[in-house]
Amino acid sequence: MDSLLIEGGIPLRGTVKVSGAKNAVLPILCSSLLTEGTCTFSNVPALRDIDTTAALLRFMGATVELNAPIVTVNTGSVRVPEAPYDLVKQMRASVLVLGPLVARFGRARVSLPGGCAIGARPIDQHLKGLEAMGATITLDHGYVEATCDRLRGATIYFDMATVTGTENLMMAAALAKGRTQLIGAAREPEVEELARVLNKMGARVDGAGTDIIHIDGVDTLHPIEHAIIPDRIEAGTFLIAAAATGGDVLVENVVPEHIEAVCQKLRAAGVYVEREERGMRVRSAKSLRAVDITTAPHPGFPTDMQAQHMVLMAIAQGTSVITENIFENRFMHVSELQRMGAEIEIRGRSAIVTGVSKLEGARVMATDLRASACLVIAGLIAEGQTEISRVYHLDRGYEKIEQRLSALGAKIQRVTDRNA
Ligand code: EPZ
Repeated sequence: MDSLLIEGGIPLRGTVKVSGAKNAVLPILCSSLLTEGTCTFSNVPALRDIDTTAALLRFMGATVELNAPIVTVNTGSVRVPEAPYDLVKQMRASVLVLGPLVARFGRARVSLPGGCAIGARPIDQHLKGLEAMGATITLDHGYVEATCDRLRGATIYFDMATVTGTENLMMAAALAKGRTQLIGAAREPEVEELARVLNKMGARVDGAGTDIIHIDGVDTLHPIEHAIIPDRIEAGTFLIAAAATGGDVLVENVVPEHIEAVCQKLRAAGVYVEREERGMRVRSAKSLRAVDITTAPHPGFPTDMQAQHMVLMAIAQGTSVITENIFENRFMHVSELQRMGAEIEIRGRSAIVTGVSKLEGARVMATDLRASACLVIAGLIAEGQTEISRVYHLDRGYEKIEQRLSALGAKIQRVTDRNA
């Protein structure tokens, strides 16, 4: 397993370009199951989750050419509408093949994703929606089996905003007979991006980006070419890394509207964050103010930025309250930050952070994707050396992270443990 070694205390300076959005690519690659022919996607990052999705599509019989940033997919030869346990356990988002497989092939057999480090993360809303559209759902030895000759449009009320739930049902509805309404839909930019792709394929999706989405089913969809939107979470991570190190960075190729909630909190903390022609400029003085956050579905403060905000608050002046309302166990990074000298107390769904003057380098362990990003930022600001183990978590969602941080002046290197 690889580790990252970081010498802290160096302000980040320079320009960094944001990659394509991982959480847009995953559903979009799965949407290629809805059509014959070859789809071509560009601005696709080289990430482990993309490799896993390619392996899953190939397992089913699809042809996938992965040459980041270009990916081509042809699902004309898909014969096995199945997502096996050993792939789904690597990546929960594999469940996104469920809707397209039932819609295109009339059946799907997908391993239940099981919980993960940040919470139980069930898929009951996905299954409830498919049943409402006429699918027969059975659970068999840890697998979901879904069958339906032709899905029919339905009005589906979500019990909570679910990103992949909205995406799965939007894809299923694209080929259903009649109109589907998704009420209480997720409003994330990645949901809007998937709707753009589906409409390019010939679907009729309306209202994506709001909490009510209408889909009028069609009989067939056609293959397309598409460039993926930038990754707002990666962009936000670079903004916070630059602010936390007291640096001056231009984050290029970002959509400012996608990270407005994060930028507002940075400004409240005393950080300069403004649009420039080619992206967002972030500049920060050493003294940061404590700022509370509560995570919420888009356009609220994203849960995927909670850990990164926490490490910024760990060195801010004053006490901040960080409340995690989306997942029940997304404070795995707290104990690692405490080992680096952070003063944090967990009370139920909130973490009370009292800023300290500095963090100390230490050996820490990554537990999930965004927690590992938080630990990298902690290493960049800590005094001395930090070693982060299990960086395979980081490689799921951050492309060439050590090269890009080094280009901004960071002292960071990857160490491969040959014995592990
Ligand atoms: C997506 O996960 C993202 N992943 C996550 O990003 C992100 O943290 C999450 O949305 C919230 O924004 C992808 O897009 C691939 P949800 P998803 O369904 O869709 C509950 C990252 O770091 N729920 O919106 O799995 C669920 O337990 C990852 O890139 C149900 O109860 O999240 C959670 O508490 C981590 N039943 C809440 O809803 C369901 O059927 C939101 O989950 C579905 C969800």
